[in-house]
Order: sequence, then structure tokens, then C-alpha cells
Amino acid sequence: MDGNAMTPKASFRNDYSEGAHPRLLQALAQASAEQNAGYGLDAHSTRAAQLIVARLGQPQAQVHFLVGGTQTNLLAISAFLRPHEAVIAVASGHVATHETGAIEATGHKVLITPHVDGKLTPDGVRALLAENTSEHMVKPRLVYVSNTTELGTIYTKAELQALRALCDECGLLFYLDGARLGSALTAEGNDLSLADIAALTHAFYIGGTKNGALVGEALVVVEPALQADLRYLIKQRGAMLAKGMVLGAQFEALFEDALFFELGAHANAMAQRLQAGLKAAGIALLIHSPSNQVFPILTHAQIEALAGVTSFERWSPHSDTHAVIRLVCSWATREDAVDALLAAIGHLVR
Ligand SMILES: Cc1ncc(COP(=O)(O)O)c(C=O)c1O
Repeated sequence: MDGNAMTPKASFRNDYSEGAHPRLLQALAQASAEQNAGYGLDAHSTRAAQLIVARLGQPQAQVHFLVGGTQTNLLAISAFLRPHEAVIAVASGHVATHETGAIEATGHKVLITPHVDGKLTPDGVRALLAENTSEHMVKPRLVYVSNTTELGTIYTKAELQALRALCDECGLLFYLDGARLGSALTAEGNDLSLADIAALTHAFYIGGTKNGALVGEALVVVEPALQADLRYLIKQRGAMLAKGMVLGAQFEALFEDALFFELGAHANAMAQRLQAGLKAAGIALLIHSPSNQVFPILTHAQIEALAGVTSFERWSPHSDTHAVIRLVCSWATREDAVDALLAAIGHLVR
């Protein structure tokens, strides 16, 4: 992008291209020089869990550190459901589209309904409840949402309250996938706190992998009735790291001050700079995203030319002549990389 073919070009493909924030690496180096108890029972995991719980206003909440998003979703969902019970998600939901049938492989169907700007609505939930009414069908039991959504949009407090009220009315569990929760909670227009998420869901997870950690997600189980034997289930699925301190030390560094939120805010700021620049260049967007993912609509020729200077996700077809791509900024994206990308795109559309 800078004209030197030998210089690596910044990628906008995803938010897990970089390793870990230096403070997390430092915490890891320090923890690895110690002797730590195994399987998540080390002092770092204990303190990290305490730091997270202290932000929730739910002292009974349990925290389990896991490795990845798919693993966390399948572990939590399969632990929470009985054999005949099913998940409700939007058609674009990560569990429905990008987890290789991991939930179904645990024996639980994922029922899908259309999204509105990436989000699940109470009407969508009601439609699936109306379609699945007897023991000849699966029984809808868990409502899955992700914040941010697959389109980078965020839920408002009122939207989550409406979904939770419906869950309570219909005896459903409410689970939130927070792979990008750091970005969601620091996005423009966000009115939710971590404590709100804990108050409104039965369980959720806090994504580390996409927000400065080398690897790791923190599953928070708020509802006591869902907490029993989770460590057995985690171990049985091979998800209990012997060196659990690798996860605990990173979450300790993310939550001992506001680093988790600062990293999310940085990713958002870079993406918003990019989105504003695209708009100024007259480029249409699939949707206005307030978070760290941006979805410009370009011609096929522009997309092919752009692929020569940076990498990105080809998102969806749009028309005979145009398609949507996804550009993602991370905790480590540099302002000059964003500006170089905007200059390259500006050149293409001129
Ligand atoms: C919302 C959401 N959930 C879950 C995942 C899965 O995470 P992993 O790739 O670590 O399994 C992702 C990853 O892209 C995601 O965006």
C-alpha cells in the first residue's frame, strides 16, 4: 500500500490478525515465570474472575475461562439444554452460519428467523415459538444473540429488555455471545454496561480473542440454576486447559483497569474513521455500523483491484455489478493504515 512491494500491507480481514496487547504479553511472561496451579485453579484465573464479577453487580455469577468462541457457545448451550431443546437465533447468527454445525453436533437444533439490521426481535422469537408447538418438534428453549451482531450493529438496553421480558414470559433462557462485546460496549450509541448485560441475560461471554488477548473468552454464568457441574462438562469436552493461567493472566490484565474497554474503543475509532472516509468518498454502505466492522459496497472491478493492495472478507453479493466487502479494525489497527486504505480506495473510485 505504501508502494514498496516488500513492505507488509495492513490487513483489514479481521480483528484477530495480531497477537496480544503488550500488557497481556507482559502478564503472561510474569505468570509463566511462576509455578501456577493447573486447570484454571491458579491465582491469576481466580483474580481475573473476581475482577469481572466485581463489575457485574451479580456476586453469585460464575466465570469460566475458555479458549474460543465456538467452543464457548457449544459448551454453554449444550450444558444449559436438555436433549430435545433448541436454540433460537437470527439466520445470520454466528451459531447458525459459521460454527460448522457445532451446536447441532451436540444434539440441539438451531431454529432461525430473519434479522432486522443483524438483530433478533421479539417478533422473530414469537414466530418460531408459534411454529414449534408440540413434542413432534424440537422445543425452543434458548434465545441466542450476539453483541455486536454479525453486521457490526449493537443492541440497545430497551431491545435486550424486550427480549428478556419475552424469555421470562415464555420460559426461555437468554444467552449473549460477546465475541465482540468490548467493541459493542464502547460503540457510539451504546447504552449498556457489563452489569446491564449480566442483569439481562442468564449467561454470556466476554470475548478476549478479538479484543487484545492472544486467546481466550470468559464465560459468565449468571443464573445459579445453570451453574452446576460446568467444570465437569468443560473437562469432558477437552476444554479445560492444564495451563489455565494462560487465560487467567490475560483477563486479569484486561480487567484490572479499563484496558478491555480502551482496546474496544480504539478498534471502533479506527473503523469509524474508515467508515466516515468511505462515506466522504461517496461509497455506499450495506449498513451504518457503529462498531469495528464496516461494510462498503463496491463494484467487482474495484474489489479485485483492492484485493491487490490489502486483504478483506468478501461478504455478500449485492447486484450484478456490485458486492459487499467487510473491513475490520482491531485493537492494534493504526491510523496511518486506515488513511492508506482510504487513499487506495479513493484512487479506485475516482
Ligand atoms: C459473534 C461470534 N461468535 C463466535 C465466534 C467464534 O469464535 P472462534 O472462531 O474463536 O471459534 C466468532 C468468530 O468470528 C464471532 O464473531
